[in-house]
Amino acid sequence: MRRLGLLFGGRSGEHEISILSAASMIEAIDGNRYEIVKIGINKSGGWYLIEKDMSGIESLDDDRLKTLIPDGSGAQTGGAAKPVSPGDIPALVDFVFPALHGPYGEDGRMQGLLETLNVPYGGCGVACSAVAMDKIFTREIWARAGLPVCGHVALFAEDYKADPGGEIDAVESALGYPVFVKPANLGSSVGISKAKSREGLKEGIAEALKYDRRLIVEECVNCRELETGVLGNRQVLSAAVGEIIPAAEFYDYESKYRDAGTAIVVPADIPADTAKEIKNLAEKAYCVLNGEGFARVDFFLERETGRIFINEINTIPGFTKYSMFPLLWKEAGLPYGELIERIVELGYERYFSENHRKANGFGG
Ligand SMILES: Nc1ncnc2c1ncn2[C@@H]1O[C@H](COP(=O)(O)OP(=O)(O)O)[C@@H](O)[C@H]1O
Ligand SMILES: [Mg+2]
Repeated sequence: MRRLGLLFGGRSGEHEISILSAASMIEAIDGNRYEIVKIGINKSGGWYLIEKDMSGIESLDDDRLKTLIPDGSGAQTGGAAKPVSPGDIPALVDFVFPALHGPYGEDGRMQGLLETLNVPYGGCGVACSAVAMDKIFTREIWARAGLPVCGHVALFAEDYKADPGGEIDAVESALGYPVFVKPANLGSSVGISKAKSREGLKEGIAEALKYDRRLIVEECVNCRELETGVLGNRQVLSAAVGEIIPAAEFYDYESKYRDAGTAIVVPADIPADTAKEIKNLAEKAYCVLNGEGFARVDFFLERETGRIFINEINTIPGFTKYSMFPLLWKEAGLPYGELIERIVELGYERYFSENHRKANGFGG
């Protein structure tokens, strides 16, 4: 039986969401085919083999989220957990599914570690993961490939410090107001704000600079938010298209994870050719970044004009059975458990692709 290592928790702001994704996956994985090895990473980066049962962890309010993975203080944290080192991974598992979201899990760093350890894993590779996490890189690459992205300006901390007035003038003349200000490398809407004036823009920049020295400022699109899933290595398929209807003014952290008023609509109520266009753009956006395994691609559909913009790609999207990505595949005819198995197969396919192994010095 294959030993499937599930990595969860992690150092990012999406630590708790990642545990929910993993708990949900454990219930769906076929226990006759895979032995699940649960590996929790705490917020400081400590790795633990988790023996505790994780069934029924479905809500951010579940107290077990705080105690499941030891915090490293040595205090009793309410569950069997044994420290392990990343170097132990090849001896513990045959395959890794990183159910980690955000920096250090989704952004290529973990993928680089797994490549270095020569362990097959699910999802996008090093470069794709790193680029996909970066809102400046993705927009520049997509724009060059002729794919539609909204108006934007990159802003660097050093330039802003040297000439704040000049940088703000440049944003104003390129985009006007309102604008969205975002750290280039993050997720979960952390550090993101909507600015409606010069004063608001200054505040938004100061806030975003707490998280990254590279920022992106974008024109604000009055839009519906649509998403689809992509699956495959070089030959890719896309899922149904779904819509997020945030309860707040925009899809911020609270409305993402706490607000029951936020609705997920699958399939989205849009014309068939809009859905087709979104699926087509998602596949292109994924392939141009050399996507492998799976990803969720998010779009803006401008209300006044019907124009479609690609907003972002998430290489390890939320993965609970209630999350958008699995729901989109279920709608397309691929149930949750089979979706996970397909991602494992794609990971093995990539691993055994001969050129890749040879190029990395592991022989033919
Ligand atoms: N240019 C924009 N125009 C309109 N709304 C936006 C824009 N950029 C972001 N938003 C809103 O902010 C949310 C979070 O932005 P996003 O770029 O998706 O960041 P994250 O990686 O944190 O999810 C989006 O889901 C959307 O509601
Ligand atoms: Mg988003």
